[in-house]
Amino acid sequence: MNSSDLDDYRWLVSDEAAKWLHHAAEQQNNLVSLTSQLRRQLSARRTHLILDQVQLRRRGRVKFKAADQMFFTRKGLQQATGQTVAEYKAARFDSAISVVDLCCGIGGDLLALREGRSVQGVERCAVTALLAAANCCRLSSERTKVLGRDLLVSDVADVQAWHLDPDRRVKGGRTVQIQLQQPNDDMISKLLERNRNGAVKLAPASVVPDAWLEQAQIEWISHARECKQSVVWFGELADKPGRRSATHLTPDGKAEHFHGLCDLPVPVAPDVARFVVEPDPAILAARLNGALAAAMNLQAISSAAAYLTADSPLQSRLTTSFEIQEMLPFEVKRIRRLLRERQIGHLELKKRGVRIDLIHLRKQLSCQGEHAGTLLLMPRGRGTIAVLARRAS
Ligand SMILES: C[S@@+](CC[C@H](N)C(=O)[O-])C[C@H]1O[C@@H](n2cnc3c(N)ncnc32)[C@H](O)[C@@H]1O
Repeated sequence: MNSSDLDDYRWLVSDEAAKWLHHAAEQQNNLVSLTSQLRRQLSARRTHLILDQVQLRRRGRVKFKAADQMFFTRKGLQQATGQTVAEYKAARFDSAISVVDLCCGIGGDLLALREGRSVQGVERCAVTALLAAANCCRLSSERTKVLGRDLLVSDVADVQAWHLDPDRRVKGGRTVQIQLQQPNDDMISKLLERNRNGAVKLAPASVVPDAWLEQAQIEWISHARECKQSVVWFGELADKPGRRSATHLTPDGKAEHFHGLCDLPVPVAPDVARFVVEPDPAILAARLNGALAAAMNLQAISSAAAYLTADSPLQSRLTTSFEIQEMLPFEVKRIRRLLRERQIGHLELKKRGVRIDLIHLRKQLSCQGEHAGTLLLMPRGRGTIAVLARRAS
């Protein structure tokens, strides 16, 4: 990053660029004419920044209600915690009124943490730090300081709690190994020695060090049918130290939780009942499907896949129930015939525990018709079964 790059980003967040951003957002359907209009007045670099920003804001709407007023980099948007999850996490900081957000990126978590608190961000990338500060400034009249430098252990000394979202994209790829993240587990231990009230965001599949498992609460959080992240809550932020939790967030941010022991075995049902039950992605990532099955008195369809079976649909948001209409061996011709008979043109395809290319299968099935259905593929006994069902919850 050179200083003229940073200057261009400073311009991007200025009032002068705001009118170009507004104009570009209105004219984006005619890209060729828009580009030549911008190029008549702006440098190639600034034209690119405006066009890119308009596109990023459009994509950002999936994560942020106010995306059209925010600033992103491509990487910053990808890495940002979406608003619903960030607001849920921020609420868990409860009574902590002074918080530092380490590795704050463009401010996904920072924006939510700020509400009612004194919060400071720390971000090593100068451009990203500039955008985080601009985002905070755009979305509130309160000033939030964002320090554009590497985090220090002393950053957590004088605050009640801290949040850290390490960079998992190292050397071009992604890692789930905490030792390879930036900052790594050694640095996190030093932060904890200085202030034990910390929350560390991780990828859902990250392997958590044994030493953390006893003292911390680990929570996997799902939203919009996807496990978005896990959070390791330390000190007073852990309301259930030593526990694993799965949390499902509804579109409007309501939370349903499940706590339990991981990797409990699930008995396999001798017969598949009326419903297939799919545990929430957070339950699966937390490896709590055995505990969930025990708590809800469910059996598995197969020991090799996570689908469970029940006589009636379950009301919990931590499960989705599918009412079985037909169950058959996995044979493409038979499935195609069944879908044609039932005129199923809108088919949701799902699989667990089997290696089947769903894109290829969809082409093979060439569905036509006015009805909708779900086809679930899974192992059962020595073979693979296909279950035609309809969503019941
Ligand atoms: C996963 S992103 C943070 C996303 C953020 N929580 C959000 O919701 O927008 C991680 C950020 O950490 C920054 N980073 C990595 N190492 C750092 C360090 N030692 N000090 C400060 N920032 C760092 C990276 O530049 C990157 O922007």
